[in-house]
Amino acid sequence: MPVPIIIDCDPGHDDALAIMLAAGDPAVDLLAVTTVAGNQTLDKTTLNARRVCTVAGITDVPVAAGCDRPLVQPLGVAADVHGATGLDGPMFPAPTVDAVPEHAVDLIHRLLAEHPEPVTLVPTAPLTNIALLLRRYPEDASRIREIVLMGGSTERGNRTPAAEFNILTDPEAADIVFRSGVPVTMCGLNVTHQALATPEVVARFVALGTPLGRICADLLTFFGSTYRELYGFSSPPLHDPVAVARVIDPGLVHCVDAHVDVELHGRYTRGATVVDLHRSTGRPANARVAVTLETSLFWDRLVAAVAVLGERAHGPASS
Ligand code: BDR
Ligand code: CA
Repeated sequence: MPVPIIIDCDPGHDDALAIMLAAGDPAVDLLAVTTVAGNQTLDKTTLNARRVCTVAGITDVPVAAGCDRPLVQPLGVAADVHGATGLDGPMFPAPTVDAVPEHAVDLIHRLLAEHPEPVTLVPTAPLTNIALLLRRYPEDASRIREIVLMGGSTERGNRTPAAEFNILTDPEAADIVFRSGVPVTMCGLNVTHQALATPEVVARFVALGTPLGRICADLLTFFGSTYRELYGFSSPPLHDPVAVARVIDPGLVHCVDAHVDVELHGRYTRGATVVDLHRSTGRPANARVAVTLETSLFWDRLVAAVAVLGERAHGPASS
């Protein structure tokens, strides 16, 4: 049986691919796409989620907008990485998929209550919506099978030397999630930097011969240009689909158990995930921490999902 999941995201180039992987892979059942402020403002991330669902033919999955700012601090977006729209690069048609008139947190709460089995949450963005859900509806914790998130790192950060963007954008929310008692799997930069979208990977999306494959290639090309400029990467790391891949097949993303704390007060380290890989604190593990990606199987799965969606939306590619 496919694993029921909800993606909570801030599209975002890599979020866009994460949505497509979740919608196109038969191992998961995508119940909803919820949005939050992060890579761009909430109006832009929600518009982008609608754009992605429209071009990928994802018309039967509700899209709902959530929180427009972090719990405590002001919002800082990542226009330098994702552009002024949050999804710069491809030309998108006007979206025909609308957002539902329900707050993301209420939609997630309702879907958790309605679904016959516990649901896996896959946040690929700041954890504001998820923390608010756990605070507003504490009874929902037992209806969440697992939270498999993209965020944090066992080593370096990307927005500061110590902190990764999703955690840094709302550290208080991340702290609530890691201390919630709900099983958490953290897919941080240490593993997502193994998912480099090389020119060969981009060529595979082009070779699908569908408009959707072309859009994916254009997304990766824009993402590659900002990663080259800002970070000196020769190919961009496709963070968010790694979390979806872990749910699709745990064998694609290997994890270790560890205690993770979120630094809230450090003068230089606010937003860092402090991962006790060597059990030096003696504190019990509160997370599974992803460490290794089966890279080529990961790309096979992502390309296959985009192929399925592309053919569903536009018919088989002409040869
Ligand atoms: C994370 O930050 C965002 O810019 C990406 O979409 C990803 O979720 C990587 O640090
Ligand atoms: Ca994201």
